[in-house]
Amino acid sequence: MLSDETRARIESAKKVCVFTGAGVSAESGIPTFRDAGGLWENHRPEDLVTIEAFERDPVLVWRWHLWLQNLCHGSQPNAAHEALARLDSASPEFLCITQNIDDLHERAGTNRIVKIHSDLMQIRCLAKDHVTQLTTALDEHSIRSSDDFPKCPKCGSPCRPNVVWFGEMLPIEPLDRARRFASRCDLFIIVGTSGVVSGGYGFTEMAKHNGAFILEINPRKSELTYLADISIRLPAAEALPELFGTIPGDQD
Ligand code: OAD
Repeated sequence: MLSDETRARIESAKKVCVFTGAGVSAESGIPTFRDAGGLWENHRPEDLVTIEAFERDPVLVWRWHLWLQNLCHGSQPNAAHEALARLDSASPEFLCITQNIDDLHERAGTNRIVKIHSDLMQIRCLAKDHVTQLTTALDEHSIRSSDDFPKCPKCGSPCRPNVVWFGEMLPIEPLDRARRFASRCDLFIIVGTSGVVSGGYGFTEMAKHNGAFILEINPRKSELTYLADISIRLPAAEALPELFGTIPGDQD
């Protein structure tokens, strides 16, 4: 799949930054956003993932988020998540910057991670911004009116999903951590993002500016492809285990 020179460059990396998007979870059965059959094929983001949509029709917004929360919670990490967890364990310095709001990286065992779009398994209260981590998915059918919104366990006020919606700022601490790491890494691996949103974040440019080797894994060309030293046109669950070993216990 790779030349000896490229492989040597990847294997000698000391500071590895992985940047993931929805494509890394595609083989777990979670649709991406912009591919055929993706989440934005039949819905307009402005009806579901903006503060204006929540003010206009919060029941619809909550029910859609809980539908997705149940889908993600019921899905399992795939071979791509598992290969990246191995890379986390094997690398002296490592950070996975993910745009994904599912928790499949964490469930696969990736520990060094920042979630720049936050987390579908968290709720945030509208009164005081208290964040609560859920341990189980909530029933979408339980939301029939604003009286049914999940309540903050700390102050009792209604909550919203704690994910970053269109038009909202990225959370400052994760963004700073991501930028600091990306701008000092020597290997930057882009997995399964179209770059339509993330192209604006500048992580890939920062890594490139530092002289990092840029490896992209995506079956299709993306908005970030022009920055890549190499693009592997394969699904993540095929390419990543081949690059970074197989799952312990799978080897006979
Ligand atoms: P997109 O849906 O825009 O892009 C998904 C990318 O994954 C595409 O480039 C596909 O070619 C690629 N892909 C599909 N299957 C793949 C596979 N098996 N292996 C590897 N790659 C595959 O998703 P994102 O770029 O993640 O924002 O979208 C970015 C943001 O837009 C999301 O985080 C979300 C969305 O609106 C928020 O929720 C704030």
